[in-house]
Amino acid sequence: MLFITGATGFVGSHLLKALQKDAVEARCLVRTEEKAKAVQSLGFDAVIGDITDRESLTGKLKGIELVVHLVGIIQEGSGITFNRVHVEGTENLINEALSAGVKNFFYQSALGADLESPFKYLKTKAEAEELLKISGLNFWIFRPSLIIGPGDGFTENIKELLRLSPVVPVPGSGNAKFQPLSIDDWVRAFMKTLKNSSSSGTIYEFGGPEHLTYNEILQIIMKEMGIKKPLVHIPVGIVKAGIPLTYLFRKLGVKIPPVSAEQLNLLQKNNITDIDSMEKHFGFKPESFETAIKKAI
Ligand SMILES: NC(=O)c1ccc[n+]([C@@H]2O[C@H](COP(=O)([O-])OP(=O)(O)OC[C@H]3O[C@@H](n4cnc5c(N)ncnc54)[C@H](OP(=O)(O)O)[C@@H]3O)[C@@H](O)[C@H]2O)c1
Repeated sequence: MLFITGATGFVGSHLLKALQKDAVEARCLVRTEEKAKAVQSLGFDAVIGDITDRESLTGKLKGIELVVHLVGIIQEGSGITFNRVHVEGTENLINEALSAGVKNFFYQSALGADLESPFKYLKTKAEAEELLKISGLNFWIFRPSLIIGPGDGFTENIKELLRLSPVVPVPGSGNAKFQPLSIDDWVRAFMKTLKNSSSSGTIYEFGGPEHLTYNEILQIIMKEMGIKKPLVHIPVGIVKAGIPLTYLFRKLGVKIPPVSAEQLNLLQKNNITDIDSMEKHFGFKPESFETAIKKAI
């Protein structure tokens, strides 16, 4: 039996579909009764808890063979910090796994996770990885690039932006490179890893088959949506400060999504790895961005 955190999110919900197909048993940690009912309706067990609340996890990992820890946030909120969710939350889960006698732990980190990173998202992901490495548990860590598929937050935001704005605002030059991969390939990679217990202790850094700039990504999404709008580059400082030009853009109907300063900075930085990373790690060729985005749209 697997114990899954983040099962109600984008990645988790796609994973549940694959597990359902293969009749893999899982117990999902969810935060509300309503979400518990939703995962139960798919044939999985549900327990209510929050990884940032150690007590809420007590006794919930009994009989579990593998923890699949997918929880992550991309933006901090009131009382919800990267440190609290990624570091303390993972520590709570590791401690509960150890008390319950669980042996195996999968952690979904992110491409670029680094203890020295100036980005709190990436630094705290690396800190969580460190906790797992010294826990004594068998572990598997995925560091995927941007994941694309039906319901992914990135494409949803871009779709809305493209539909509602007469022009497409791009923070900065839009020349930073990304390596998006399809959610179907992420699931395939996960299922392969699940069946290969001898790979314990591995950190898998991977992305799709192309290095694409943010500008190129926008152009491909527009092509698939049948939309043609000019890209308008806005200096990052202006977007960040939320000063008059941003206000003016909003007044003109140019939608600028609510993003944090950290997210804007992340958009300016390459987030890529080897182009053949999935072949090397998992032995298959991933889908192109175009194929993935068609499914997402
Ligand atoms: N999507 C990507 O492109 C991408 C790329 C690289 C790495 N990742 C990593 O992959 C993981 C999954 O990403 P995603 O896109 O599926 O995220 P998502 O759609 O935002 O889902 C996040 C999940 O975490 C749950 N959650 C959040 N805080 C929690 C808490 N304190 N206790 C228990 N559950 C909590 C949410 O539950 P609720 O339903 O209750 O909100 C939801 O199920 C994250 O760790 C993310 O950093 C994602």
